[in-house]
Amino acid sequence: MKKILITGGAGFMGSNMIRYLLRQYPEYCIVNVDKLTYAGNLNNLKDIADDPRYRFYQADIIDSKFIDDLFHREQFDYVLNYAAETHVDRSIMDPDAFLYTDIIGTFTLLEAVKKYGVERMVQISTDEVFGSTLDGAFTEVSPFQPNSPYSASKAGADHLCRAYFVTYQVPVIMTHSCNFYGPYQYPEKFLPLFITNLLEDKKVPIYGDGKYVREWIYTEDHCRAIDLVLHQGRVGEVYNIGTGYRQENLSVTKLLLELLDKDQSYIEFIKDRPGHDRRYAIDATKLRNELGWVPMFSFEQGLEAKVRWYQQNTSWWKELKSGAYEAYYRQQYHERLSS
Ligand code: NAD
Ligand code: TYD
Repeated sequence: MKKILITGGAGFMGSNMIRYLLRQYPEYCIVNVDKLTYAGNLNNLKDIADDPRYRFYQADIIDSKFIDDLFHREQFDYVLNYAAETHVDRSIMDPDAFLYTDIIGTFTLLEAVKKYGVERMVQISTDEVFGSTLDGAFTEVSPFQPNSPYSASKAGADHLCRAYFVTYQVPVIMTHSCNFYGPYQYPEKFLPLFITNLLEDKKVPIYGDGKYVREWIYTEDHCRAIDLVLHQGRVGEVYNIGTGYRQENLSVTKLLLELLDKDQSYIEFIKDRPGHDRRYAIDATKLRNELGWVPMFSFEQGLEAKVRWYQQNTSWWKELKSGAYEAYYRQQYHERLSS
């Protein structure tokens, strides 16, 4: 029996991980702490909300009093930190929350992990901390060169994790993953935005020339990687998580058009994102060699599964794409569409 704290568990990847862990480890108990920002959604967890092994608290991870009381009460074995502000475009418009949650929030958790002797913490971070590379792939020792307030805030958190391991021997493990995709992804990110726009018979807004490259990992594969890192990874180490499935945004868009039976007139090229990273690529040799992880989903399989999920769960995303979302979308795209 292990007790795990998952922060940000009402978001995209956190909710997938909670479901995965409850399925894989019947004896585990999971506590989810989530602030429920615009990206947090309890509908992501409807199917497991009444599971006696699961509990939810709505709280902010920068609230050190709440976090300290919680750790004192619960005596966690493991902590998985998924909570973050995560959308690059929002970080460009409004960086404050990124610095508070991503950096101070991680600091608050590290302090509690140190004080209460938690066995292991995994910090879920991103390949974006390495900046952009035109060729080759980032390894665990590539230098940090973040280019957006989002990636800079995640890099800050990663530096703190390393420092807490070296200085205080806090048992933290850091992961840098390529882009996730799969069910329950908030429809502001590239893939869910494009899929839902096409399902609504709307155009899809490609930034710049569309030749930006991202590497993609399906939710289930990422959950398996974190499972291995949590249980078998070495503390103080960094693990890259990547699949080698690297695609230009325009090629991915063409695949989506094909899957959803639309022609190229649905593509709209719009003004580029400032500071847009040209290419991400991750070398995951260490994860493969040390922990035996390989992806089970090809990009095409994952994309088809993702499209099917959005086709079958229209009420989930339609509810999100109304109200405040519309105001965000108008603000984000109005100027770019009209320039
Ligand atoms: P998401 O935006 O879907 O969810 C983030 C969750 O964190 C939300 O439920 C939100 O309510 C919660 N949250 C935000 N601020 C909080 C706070 N102060 N206190 C408590 N909860 C708070 O994110 P995601 O896409 O699932 O990403 C999860 C993690 O994985 C993040 O740390 C992100 O940096 C990292 N990551 C994401 C990707 C990707 O492609 N999405 C790739 C690599 C790494
Ligand atoms: P995004 O999902 O925001 O993730 P990342 O954190 O990797 O930037 O964007 C993925 C890629 O898609 C990135 O190159 C920006 C591009 N993009 C568009 O072309 N149009 C869009 O509307 C969005 C949201 C992203």
